[in-house]
Amino acid sequence: MKFSNRLNRFGDEVFAALNERKMQLLAEGRTIYNLSIGTPDFETPAHIKQALIDAAAVQDNWKYSLRDLPELLQAVCDYYADRFGVTITPDQVMSVNGSQEGIGHLGMVLCDEGDTVLLPDPGYPVFTAGALMAGAQPWYYPLAPEKDFLPDFDAIPDEVADRAKYMVVGLPANPVGSVAKPGFYEELVAFAKAHDLLIVHDNAYSDIIFDGFEGRSFFNTPGAADIGVEFFSLSKSFNVTGARISFLVGRPDVVAALKKLRSQIDFGMFLPVQYAAIAALTGPRESVKTQCADYQARRDALCGGLRAIGWDVPNNHGSMFVWAKLPGGRTDSMAFCMELMEKAGVICTPGASFGPRGEGYVRFALVLPPERIAEAVASIGKSGLVTG
Ligand SMILES: Cc1ncc(COP(=O)(O)O)c(C=O)c1O
Repeated sequence: MKFSNRLNRFGDEVFAALNERKMQLLAEGRTIYNLSIGTPDFETPAHIKQALIDAAAVQDNWKYSLRDLPELLQAVCDYYADRFGVTITPDQVMSVNGSQEGIGHLGMVLCDEGDTVLLPDPGYPVFTAGALMAGAQPWYYPLAPEKDFLPDFDAIPDEVADRAKYMVVGLPANPVGSVAKPGFYEELVAFAKAHDLLIVHDNAYSDIIFDGFEGRSFFNTPGAADIGVEFFSLSKSFNVTGARISFLVGRPDVVAALKKLRSQIDFGMFLPVQYAAIAALTGPRESVKTQCADYQARRDALCGGLRAIGWDVPNNHGSMFVWAKLPGGRTDSMAFCMELMEKAGVICTPGASFGPRGEGYVRFALVLPPERIAEAVASIGKSGLVTG
């Protein structure tokens, strides 16, 4: 069977080799600290689970939903007003099966073959996949340490920005953990207007942000509503990653276009999941705040701990990820991850899997409690990999 040329646009799964070795080490009874995948280990709030259970008991809720419930769209609008102080209307909202799916498909409604899109490097891999599925050409703008891992508009030539169809920006950022500084979004809106670009803002981590920075919506910025859309995910705030609850919010023409594409291939979000989403959006949010403090304690345990053993890893200010330059002048992130797993039992993700500028770094996900992170750090210390 000759598969499509399209499939050749995607590389092979980088985690396969790591996973295989992890399974072998576990089978040998080794202690493993898995800090590789960004799936939260916190509990889903009880009221969200209960809404899903109650809705699943109603037979009618097992039919094709075909649409987003009006109460769900209104719940998103009310949440935006209450949480972000942003006014949006239901025609500016649609559900997606996770931001991952939405970002994966959006390129197809915005681009034709050969169009240019601006993506961060390093960045979350589905940004690239969405462009490639559409046949578009990614142009990677740098997230560099000397610019605090924030987009550097001066690094994008005018003619590239002029021909690009859209630019993806996601803050707090995965994998680099950077957050917006005051004035950043104003600059982004001005850049988009100057080059007639659509901004696709990926808002997955507005509730995981530390050190006095504030998680916001892109639409907090004047003028953003004219030039942008935002993927708003409940996955990490409410620990519902498996339920796939996210929304595209913003320009009604873009929302309508993605709805049109998805209506060809999708019969709507499972109704019990829609009721769970309503419960999350309209229910109490204290747990979200406590959890943010818990993530910060994990960040302190990891970054502080690694610095104490001689690995100079700066604090990330947001997201659930720590971005660490390889110690001891090493440059091969995959080789280092294998060695770290072998010698310390700690699993992290090679930076190279997030783009060429990710090489020379690894990403740790803050998915274990501080005590276990402290054990992982001690194990790294004993391995001799940092000082050796
Ligand atoms: C930066 C970023 N965007 C989007 C997502 C996907 O979120 P969802 O669960 O809504 O697909 C993730 C998940 O890890 C992420 O890290």
